[in-house]
Amino acid sequence: MSDASVPAQAMSQAINLTDKLAQFAQHWSPRVVAQMNDVQFKLVKMQGDFVWHSHEDTDEVFIVVKGRMEIGFRDHDVVLREGEMCVIPRGVEHITRAGEECHALIIEPAGVVNTGDAGGDLTARNDVWI
Ligand code: NI
Repeated sequence: MSDASVPAQAMSQAINLTDKLAQFAQHWSPRVVAQMNDVQFKLVKMQGDFVWHSHEDTDEVFIVVKGRMEIGFRDHDVVLREGEMCVIPRGVEHITRAGEECHALIIEPAGVVNTGDAGGDLTARNDVWI
């Protein structure tokens, strides 16, 4: 995705995450709110279990904005509460889970597929801006 496709209102303006989160309800369906060079900032609402997957070419960051989530790795689980974040290393299998609805900001390069190598029904369309 080139810089030319970044909406003008996403640059040089305050981006209110609470306002953006009010614009969608679907779980596991990331919405892009900003882009810095080739890295996108995506809001996601999660509830239940995602799918085990990995991203061969990139690390991935989750920052919890509201609620509580877990990131499962094959050898340990990480609990993230509001204001906490985790970097998932490239190539490492992980699964995201949320018992109750959780809202997070994902930071990763444009074009990264949410289900990574796993594919399947939870694969979301990319570059959906709000
Ligand atoms: Ni992932």
